Amino acid sequence: VLIFGGSGQLGGELLSCFAQARWQVVPLRRQEADLNDLAKVVEKISVYRPNVVINAAAYGQVDLAERDPDQALLTNASAIRNLAQACSASGAKLFHYSTDYVFDGLADRPYRESDPVHPINTYGVSKLAGEYFIRAYAPHALILRVGGIFGPRGILTNRGNFVETMLRAARDPQPVRVIVDFTASPTYAPALAQRTFEIVERDLSGTYHCGGGEAVTWYDFAQRIFEVAGVQAQLVPASESDYQISARRPKYSALSNAKLENAGISAMPSLIDALKDYMRRRSALRSSTHEALA
Ligand SMILES: NC(=O)c1ccc[n+]([C@@H]2O[C@H](COP(=O)([O-])OP(=O)(O)OC[C@H]3O[C@@H](n4cnc5c(N)ncnc54)[C@H](OP(=O)(O)O)[C@@H]3O)[C@@H](O)[C@H]2O)c1
Repeated sequence: VLIFGGSGQLGGELLSCFAQARWQVVPLRRQEADLNDLAKVVEKISVYRPNVVINAAAYGQVDLAERDPDQALLTNASAIRNLAQACSASGAKLFHYSTDYVFDGLADRPYRESDPVHPINTYGVSKLAGEYFIRAYAPHALILRVGGIFGPRGILTNRGNFVETMLRAARDPQPVRVIVDFTASPTYAPALAQRTFEIVERDLSGTYHCGGGEAVTWYDFAQRIFEVAGVQAQLVPASESDYQISARRPKYSALSNAKLENAGISAMPSLIDALKDYMRRRSALRSSTHEALA
């Protein structure tokens, strides 16, 4: 298994999951293989000759993408076209992550794979274009749409995640203002990596959703984070209109996992169980990182 985006918060979980199952796995960091460098991507695939290529790399800065659409389209669409072609040419199976932001958020129940897509920001358009390129050039690929990834390795990555943002905000004496008018199903990275492993073992193809176990507002999510972390914080509900955000976001983007579960893949853990596991792994990761630095 060759993993692009191997140093991201999901990439790290994928590495440990496949390695624990004794698969041969090679994680590639951006410095080793930039997705936008076609020659490098082709070289890595021809050197390692993987059975499976997992792409966990993406341009994921939703607000920045509004100001820099070319870069978002380059990494999330054009580079994915190249990757799909390279995988097809070498016979490697492609496993790719897409997003709940391919939807417009007007639904009132979790989105299914058969629901019409209609992105409302540049990031969503770029990820959807990546999906189309994969369907065109690697028809046996697996596309897994996920939303709001949070994993303990977020403490080590450049972008971090919502849990880390909340824990940082709670250290500030100011109240923590969190948006109440967006609902999603945040996806726990170690559980997502495990489902990825199950899907690869079963050799599924096509498009599937893998949201977290529950649909929650970001405000509800913050409440649960503080509850599980045992942190006292003054949470204040805020609205989208309180902020100047460049990108519009879908108001509702929870994903239905029914198709995935019907295919025999394990159900995702509840949000509370995921957060308990997150805090345990986060402490272990922090201790081992401090030890390594000491
Ligand atoms: N995070 C979310 O909430 C979320 C939601 C929906 C879908 N997804 C999708 O899930 C996947 C994994 O997300 P994640 O949270 O693990 O993201 P992440 O932590 O930001 O990791 C992404 C990785 O991709 C690397 N990368 C970025 N541009 C690259 C390029 N041009 N070439 C090679 N590597 C590049 C990044 O390297 P640097 O650190 O050097 O930039 C980083 O290691 C992505 O496909 C994303 O679109 C994520």
